[in-house]
Amino acid sequence: MKAFIFDLDGVLVDTAHYHFLAWSEICVSLAIPFSKEDNEKLKGIDRRNSLKILLKLGDIKLDETQFDYWLIKKNEIYTEMIDKLNRNDLFIGVIPLFEELKKRNIKIGLGSASKNAKMILKKLDIVNYFDAIVDGNMTTLSKPDPQVFLLNADKLGVQVEKCAVFEDSEAGIDAAITANMKAIAIGNDPSIKHADLVFENINSVDLNKVLSLYDN
Ligand code: BG6
Ligand code: MG
Repeated sequence: MKAFIFDLDGVLVDTAHYHFLAWSEICVSLAIPFSKEDNEKLKGIDRRNSLKILLKLGDIKLDETQFDYWLIKKNEIYTEMIDKLNRNDLFIGVIPLFEELKKRNIKIGLGSASKNAKMILKKLDIVNYFDAIVDGNMTTLSKPDPQVFLLNADKLGVQVEKCAVFEDSEAGIDAAITANMKAIAIGNDPSIKHADLVFENINSVDLNKVLSLYDN
């Protein structure tokens, strides 16, 4: 039995861009200089740890109440931005790939740091494709810790060596490697080049190449 575990933001849908825009607004309010390169370090990282990274960047200290205020604010901005998300926002190639995996009896998992993941899957109308969903509400450790993927493999009942993880973030690729899973990078950022395979986007995933990583 094999399983393909997909990250959500930036792999199945372009929500990574909205995370960037929402954090940019917070950084303007807190006068933190924040670039696209800085944003790469936030990809795959949960909300609390993302804010910690940004505060370090701006050399800012907040008390707990202020910290929670900006966390809530960021999520308000973000969820408002993705309010109208629907099936048409899925990256091209997602549905054909999922259909092919179903045909081949390969299990499909979701491994996302996002606490909004289930809501987004519902908006995209793809919940039923997944054999197991693990999101930010079910984990205690953020990527690059492999917890999210290990939990997923456990739920799926598939051995880690039989799992392939599809990720757009350095933290996610590192998590997959630590989990002893096949690491498939989606995108062209230099920080994910150390994956087992790199594809520019989900539409260009070559299933045979991924399957050639398996012994059988
Ligand atoms: C990850 C994103 O998928 O989810 C991160 O790459 C984000 O940018 C994290 O911080 C947590 O998401 P959310 O929706 O719970 O704020
Ligand atoms: Mg991602």
